Amino acid sequence: MAEKNQIPLVSVFIMGKEYKVPSGLTLMKAMEYAGYRYTRGAGCRAGFCGACATIYRLKDDYKLKSALACQTTVDDGMYLVQLPFTPANKKKYDMEKLNIAHNALLKEYPEIARCISCNSCTKVCPQELKVMDYVQASLRGDIEKAAILSFDCVQCGLCAFRCPAEITQYHVGQLARRLNGKFVAPKAIHTEEAVAKLNNGVSKKEISKLKILKLAEIKDLYKKRVTE
Ligand code: SF4
Ligand code: SF4
Ligand code: FES
Repeated sequence: MAEKNQIPLVSVFIMGKEYKVPSGLTLMKAMEYAGYRYTRGAGCRAGFCGACATIYRLKDDYKLKSALACQTTVDDGMYLVQLPFTPANKKKYDMEKLNIAHNALLKEYPEIARCISCNSCTKVCPQELKVMDYVQASLRGDIEKAAILSFDCVQCGLCAFRCPAEITQYHVGQLARRLNGKFVAPKAIHTEEAVAKLNNGVSKKEISKLKILKLAEIKDLYKKRVTE
């Protein structure tokens, strides 16, 4: 007889084999519960690194779904497949030599012109980004829009797997953000001002005091720091 308060079990299929795992576990923990060990395909375990891209199907559902394994909980009857790596087209470029006046995004990634606007990339994105829209913005040379729309990309690679035009959207988005930071967005002057103050000796006294502190005193000071 089932014990009171016992967590109900659900069935998941990993590499085609059925396992019973406690409901409420993330896909990642369910795989570990079933005895698998992540040597690749896991990083931050917190939804930031994009290393745990997973595709799955639910029982009697034709749709192929996608998720980050560390952020999604198991459903009964899930069929899971891990995608530990995306063989992506990643360009090497010199940021100093890129020319935004001549659509650097299109020049580095000419395949974006092949986009057929199928929207598969947007549908698959676990971050719910408007992936097709940032590809289209890149094609038009709208660096700022491409950078903003792709800002929360975790580089999981799922969009590239679904793209019939063989575009690696996340590398295009990454270049857009780099170009935006270097050439388009206004310069952050507060850092320059802070460095100038340091160079002018404004904080010299405070720095001299810090230099003679013991490690424990520095740690204590750090703990008591004022944070925003
Ligand atoms: S844009 Fe692509 S790589 Fe980035 S999070 Fe979405 S699916 Fe993953
Ligand atoms: S999946 Fe590829 S072809 Fe389809 S909209 Fe996205 S970038 Fe364009
Ligand atoms: S392990 Fe980093 S996003 Fe899942």
